[in-house]
Amino acid sequence: MSSVPRTLAGARVLIGVGGGIAAYKTAHLVRGLVGEGAEVRVAPTAASLEFVGAATWEALSHHKVLTSVFEDVESVAHVRHGQEADLVVIAPATADLLARMRGGRADDMLTASLLVTRAPVVVAPAMHTEMWEHPATAENIEVLRARGVTVLEPAVGRLTGPDSGPGRLPEPSAILEAARAAITAPRDERGAVRRDLAGRELLITAGGTREDLDPVRFLANHSSGRQGWALAHAALVRGARVHLAAANVDLETPPGARRRDVGSAAELAEAVAAHRSAVDALVMAAAVADFTAAERAEAKIKKDDGDEDSVPAIALRRTEDILRRSVLERGDAARPAIVGFAAETGGDGASALDLARSKARRKGADLLVFNDLTAGVFGAADNAVRVLDREGEEVARAEGSKTAVAHAVLDELVGLLPEVPWTA
Ligand code: CTP
Repeated sequence: MSSVPRTLAGARVLIGVGGGIAAYKTAHLVRGLVGEGAEVRVAPTAASLEFVGAATWEALSHHKVLTSVFEDVESVAHVRHGQEADLVVIAPATADLLARMRGGRADDMLTASLLVTRAPVVVAPAMHTEMWEHPATAENIEVLRARGVTVLEPAVGRLTGPDSGPGRLPEPSAILEAARAAITAPRDERGAVRRDLAGRELLITAGGTREDLDPVRFLANHSSGRQGWALAHAALVRGARVHLAAANVDLETPPGARRRDVGSAAELAEAVAAHRSAVDALVMAAAVADFTAAERAEAKIKKDDGDEDSVPAIALRRTEDILRRSVLERGDAARPAIVGFAAETGGDGASALDLARSKARRKGADLLVFNDLTAGVFGAADNAVRVLDREGEEVARAEGSKTAVAHAVLDELVGLLPEVPWTA
């Protein structure tokens, strides 16, 4: 293998489509991947072509679909496509397809390619709840995960019939993010995503808090929640269980993450206090307001029309420093490992890095991820960070997508976690 692309742009992505009604949603996934610059090949199972025809896949991917192992025999297509793929995504994966994967079958183009590939494989199952919960399916998934396949949790909601429950295909945007996390992730010797967070539980805060001033106005910040989301996706593909405390985040929940939505700094503090001692690591990626209204006005704050110069005085008070409190309350306990973030602009003669170093020492978190705001990163796709230890010493640097940064932060975090006597 030559150089392995670690971004979706330029990557060769093989999309497997199983025979379920959710196959129509995969059209959006293919569009999304092509839009990112990926070279997409679609391998639909014969049953899936009953739901979405070959013409749709060929038009969206700009390539002929791969169905029969007896087509294009001279180029040994069933081996070539698996070998050439940088990433395989299967959506939807039916119970039958999961069983064939687990059994190592190679009875069509897709399963033959899966036996050949040394690329990360992301599987998005979709089926009725009973099939999802059947012990045979559960066992197949356990085996596939142990082999390094990323099996996403299905979404919960309305299914094809009148029933509802777990079994819905995750939204295409969420599958796309999982694909991004998988292609960027560290690999094992067989090319599968390294599940070095299996058996670990992470609490990740994301987004930006809002502090109400009156019934219509609030103090907020520009945080989109995307760095926290990238951390969640990255941790999930590496096998972690993820709890997300989401402060005003307008993004599709990463498949399998348990999400709690919060508004203000006080609500976020409460969510963190409730879960912190049950997790292996707390990752404070949220931008938390440092000040809140001393008193929220009951009625809308009015301007004085009689006096053009008058402005209301809004008294503020400090919020709780959630990170600092978490460090203090952990004391000498082994867990959770604690990761903070610091976005700095520099000022008063101090560089952004100087401020981050002293913040690392002041906050006492195990790691502080420093973002140099002079480069302007809020809401941007790309990022450049340095990871500092609690003495303010640099232990790692990362740049690129928020996903690449997320994996670099997790690489450092993994090294901090005490050994566990099991793998999941
Ligand atoms: N943080 C927190 N609680 C707060 C404010 C911040 O837990 N009330 C966390 C953030 O989630 C982040 C880290 O502390 O992980 C650093 O946030 P930042 O706003 O840079 O730090 P502050 O202590 O607020 O320092 P500054 O005066 O520079 O704003």
